[in-house]
Amino acid sequence: MTKYLVTSALPYANGPLHFGHLAGVYIPADIYTRHRKLQGEEAIHISGSDEHGVAIMLNAQKEKQDYKSYVDHWHKDHKNLFDKYGVDFDFFGQTSSDYHAEEVIPWFNALLEKGLIEPREGKQLQCGDCHNHLPDRFVGGECYECGYEQARGDECPNCGIIIDSVKLINPECQICGSKNISEVSVTQYYLLLSKAHGDYRQWLEAAMPRFRKTVTNYVDSLTKESLHDRAITRDLDWGIDVPIAEAKGKKLYVWFDAPIGYVSNTKQWIKETGRSDHYKHDWWNNRDTHIEHFIGKDNIIFHCIIFPVMSMASEQVHTCYDVPANQYLNLEGKQFSKSSGWYVDAHEAVDQFGSDALRYYLTAISPEGSDSSFTWEGFQARVNGELANNIGNLINRCLKFWKKNWPDGMSETEIKAYEHLSDMKKLRAKLAVSKDHLDKKEIKRALEEVMTMGHLANEFFSERAPWASYKIDPHIAAKTISETAAMILVTAAALKPFTPSLSAEIFALFGDVSEEQQSRLYQEDFDVIAEIFENAGKTPVKAPKALVPKIDDDVISDLKEKLKALSS
Ligand code: MF3
Ligand code: ZN
Repeated sequence: MTKYLVTSALPYANGPLHFGHLAGVYIPADIYTRHRKLQGEEAIHISGSDEHGVAIMLNAQKEKQDYKSYVDHWHKDHKNLFDKYGVDFDFFGQTSSDYHAEEVIPWFNALLEKGLIEPREGKQLQCGDCHNHLPDRFVGGECYECGYEQARGDECPNCGIIIDSVKLINPECQICGSKNISEVSVTQYYLLLSKAHGDYRQWLEAAMPRFRKTVTNYVDSLTKESLHDRAITRDLDWGIDVPIAEAKGKKLYVWFDAPIGYVSNTKQWIKETGRSDHYKHDWWNNRDTHIEHFIGKDNIIFHCIIFPVMSMASEQVHTCYDVPANQYLNLEGKQFSKSSGWYVDAHEAVDQFGSDALRYYLTAISPEGSDSSFTWEGFQARVNGELANNIGNLINRCLKFWKKNWPDGMSETEIKAYEHLSDMKKLRAKLAVSKDHLDKKEIKRALEEVMTMGHLANEFFSERAPWASYKIDPHIAAKTISETAAMILVTAAALKPFTPSLSAEIFALFGDVSEEQQSRLYQEDFDVIAEIFENAGKTPVKAPKALVPKIDDDVISDLKEKLKALSS
């Protein structure tokens, strides 16, 4: 039986996460894992904080905090945010922990032994005042391609090229601001990707049919001719020590250790939960495991090229099955930018609107095939027009009517009316289509299908007009009500991966619906409905209050004003 090892890109413990991260990586991965679990499949969702690298060191220094306290702070903040959004992980660890370093060392050693790592002498910059070595973003300067003055030592944000820092014009130390910078000769260890080109292409060609078009097009052309070697060590004082005596004082490059975090965190999950399975035999190296990396498009090279090469060549773990990479989410048409105030605090938003409305909208606009944009007006329109109208209202009208007119429950025939209803077959088919989309990680299309389930139930309810039939024959109205309620239950099950807390609230209106019953419903076992109703028949349904509160115009205009004020 296939098992699903779902990972989400380890977020840098280096500042707040925004809607783009949630919509592009964490919510889709959460929905997908919930779906697999609801189907009764074995699935885990693994992630954690990515805590090394120069960008983190620079910010910790700016904040005058030691590195460990700095990353611990953001680790807690991110965990807390994921909790509020209902993004569940089986494990969310930290790459600054000992268990992680322990897992990384054998990878380095295996690659070294197999001739895939080798020391090379090269030029590097060093600050003449603070004496720091200046890899990556520790140095800035003018881009030698486009002339942009604020290029960083690793890439130019203006023209996008990968920067060779020794070629920067007018380099400046980002630690102390000095321009007294010199070139020195240093040895770094290189990962010899070029040597693995043949094996890699063989793997890629087999894997590509499983990947999204946006991913294959990019990776295929990038790797067709060759792969180039990359330095995987740095002269820094924060990171994992290079595990050989000759490299004393050097640290592993952050991107070498980070993806191994998926593996170390799986191991730690097993340890902390006291499970008896083995992280490698049962998960990472099990032929039946689908390893699926949810990432943003800027992480494609590492997940589709470098980590697979590291995995194959070191023979530590199997390579991935799929890399569902998403495009970018913008804010009102422009890139999110904390520094220029073009930014919405994701904590404040979820405190104000709750997780369901935000998860709904962020999924509906998920940047699956192309970039998309979060707008406050779009948020209001879709929550009010779709979630509140289509789902919230219907439940409200139906269950209020039930509670008012059949406070002591309904008869057996009334309650089982749904069993003969042809619309239930249509609903089942829609549920199946939605789950098919989820199997294929087409999260947005899956949600659209669930919303059509709501439309079907709404149409049924309006056409049968129980408020009118009640006056003629209450028995007929009772059937319509219980039939509509049956549709609501199926829709609530279908919504569960997307808006788990709304779904739980809906089930709670019918009394105690167990997790097991909810899963059976998700798995299209509609006998559960009669069980739930029998229960509800004795203890009548509860009348819902404000399941999906509508968002007022002035709330939205306030938020738009706030964004304008912050960014001006
Ligand atoms: N921290 C990286 C980012 O936010 C992602 C790391 S993913 C992993 O872009 F594979 F390295 F874990
Ligand atoms: Zn300096």
